[in-house]
Amino acid sequence: MRRITVFRIYLCALFLLSLPIVLAAAAAWQPPSQPKTTVIAHRGASGHAPEHTLSSYRLAARMNADYIEVDVRATKDGKLVALHDATLARTTNVETVYPHRSPWRVSDFSLRELKKLDAGSWFDPRFAGECVPTLDEVVRMLKAEHVNVPLYVETKQPGIERAVARLLQKHGVLQRRSVMFQSFHPESLQALRPLIPRGVPLIQLVGEKEARSGRDELLQQIAVYADGIGLPLPAVTEEWVRAAHGRGLMVHVYTVNEPHDLARLCAMGVDGVFTDYPDRPGRIAACRRLPRH
Ligand code: G3P
Ligand code: CA
Repeated sequence: MRRITVFRIYLCALFLLSLPIVLAAAAAWQPPSQPKTTVIAHRGASGHAPEHTLSSYRLAARMNADYIEVDVRATKDGKLVALHDATLARTTNVETVYPHRSPWRVSDFSLRELKKLDAGSWFDPRFAGECVPTLDEVVRMLKAEHVNVPLYVETKQPGIERAVARLLQKHGVLQRRSVMFQSFHPESLQALRPLIPRGVPLIQLVGEKEARSGRDELLQQIAVYADGIGLPLPAVTEEWVRAAHGRGLMVHVYTVNEPHDLARLCAMGVDGVFTDYPDRPGRIAACRRLPRH
């Protein structure tokens, strides 16, 4: 009888002693984390501000984008600028400022000439006076404003890789978690590989036509030199995502703006979405992610 009482007392003591540990463990327990859908601000927050302007990039950071996408091209004098199109007509007032320089190709203008253009009014008069930023100005602005959002650089033309790598290196952002590269040109990604540190991802973009022909062969080729694939929204299927993941390739989808598409793709397990509205994924349960520390 006496032995049983001692044993009971011993058990109680053990329980009381371990209680704080159990409580601490319970408090620290976290539900298995939602796979993180990376939100990439497509041309900045280009649904809210003129694409590829400092305003658009600033807004993307304020909207908690995980990456800011920057399309990069070179001017006639080899300066790297943030621009999507090969010509200036859609997103600047070039036709007014230089009426006789059609077809207004970026590569036909010097940086000094580009700086005379307004890259904001076409989107909304509120943005009048925004200019075409250089890649150097984009990195400087983010640094000066202590914005710690990595860049997702797209080389829009082959041949600029060394200049891009050198510039990012100069600013100390040519490193993992500070930059990711993408291109429709495989030769551009292959040229980048030896210029960048290990761990900086390369993403091969494919167009809709390409995505519809020979998936497995295409993935096999891409897996040789890239870390992921950029797929157009209309071409994305569960099979594509499974096949790419099966080859260790990330899947990023462009351009996803509608909430129902965002929810569908996040639930499908894509790794990232390019969106003109970086403020939207956070409102969709399937895309929600752990708060930033
Ligand atoms: O990189 C995703 C997407 O930006 C590719 O298409 O034409 O918007 O540069 P585009
Ligand atoms: Ca792009």
